[in-house]
Amino acid sequence: MGVPSALMKGRRPTDGMLALAKDIAEGRQRDGLGQTVVPASVYTDPDHWAREKAAIYDRLPQILCPSALVPDRGMAVPHDATGRPLLITRDAEGKAHVFLNVCRHRGTRLVEGGDVQCTKKLVCPYHAWTYSVDGRLLALPRPDSFPDLEKSDYGLVELPSRETGGLIWFCPREESADFSLAEKLGEDFDALGMGEHVLFRRKTHEVAGNWKLIMDAFLESYHVTRLHAKTIGPFFKDGETSGDMIGPHARSAVGRLEEMENIDLTDMAQLRRVVTFAYQLMPGALIIPSPDYINVMTMMPQAHDRTLVEDFMLIPEQPGSDKARDHWERSWALLDGGVFAGEDFRAAELGQQGLSTGAVPELTLGKMEGGIRRYHETVEEALRAAG
Ligand code: FES
Ligand SMILES: [Fe+2]
Repeated sequence: MGVPSALMKGRRPTDGMLALAKDIAEGRQRDGLGQTVVPASVYTDPDHWAREKAAIYDRLPQILCPSALVPDRGMAVPHDATGRPLLITRDAEGKAHVFLNVCRHRGTRLVEGGDVQCTKKLVCPYHAWTYSVDGRLLALPRPDSFPDLEKSDYGLVELPSRETGGLIWFCPREESADFSLAEKLGEDFDALGMGEHVLFRRKTHEVAGNWKLIMDAFLESYHVTRLHAKTIGPFFKDGETSGDMIGPHARSAVGRLEEMENIDLTDMAQLRRVVTFAYQLMPGALIIPSPDYINVMTMMPQAHDRTLVEDFMLIPEQPGSDKARDHWERSWALLDGGVFAGEDFRAAELGQQGLSTGAVPELTLGKMEGGIRRYHETVEEALRAAG
């Protein structure tokens, strides 16, 4: 079962995607780093994590979820894992919003739980102040008891956000809300048709490891045929790789040279069969398009050694039959449960356990692991930029 041609038809890769595919097809190596190191303290020191949280997670634009989490107008879903209660909505015009999930009357949490609701109105459980999904305060009981209240002054508090390429980004701070790179990345995700995909499954994993240990597992190909020997390893055997950066965000590609002959690389449907792209985005998100579906993962650190990872599986269209549903269920079980939870996240937990002993004060990285060093440099740069 492939991606329905209707979805991929006529789509072309961006120039950046094409350049990586040509590197692989023409056997070109981009300049890599030599052998490098990363200090263990960046994973094990609680103070270091507190600095990262303040400088990075409380400051930079970051992905909250795919658009497909709230596909319809009038939808709203609470999101708590960033450490503040957020509410993601889609208004009557189709625009996505990110609000603080807090009633403006006496500060009560507005929408409880974590499920997607299809409602047009949000009613506070305490005194029933009622808001629209676009944030306006619509009504309150006994308005005569608030003689000085101007309803337009009591809308939900909105945070900067941007929907692009089938993803909803937000920024915790107005001053640092620059979404230009999100827009740039959105061009690649549009080429993959991500905005037209539908959500098949989502799951939040609790990983007993530093958030960067999880990212590290997606920044090198050294482990793929080894850690994943029993799952996806064989598919990546003999793959050629290339990669580049879009600002602090990494884009990588793996392709099989022998299958790339006679392929029109400018045709996204053909390209996607022979080259697998992946995106490792700052601060902690992964976009992993398989040949016929896409996983989006967001890393939400809770402590230096504890991270929530939400995995969303996007498929090209709602399954039209039990057979189609079974097919996607198997893909979900293989990737989310088998490869990610059973292998990559497990490796991150084992890393945390080992590094916390102090046995390895500095991690040694080979030439196939240069992506990790580069990623850590962008994290350090963000720390420095925040002062
Ligand atoms: S606190 Fe929400 S209506 Fe009173
Ligand atoms: Fe992996």
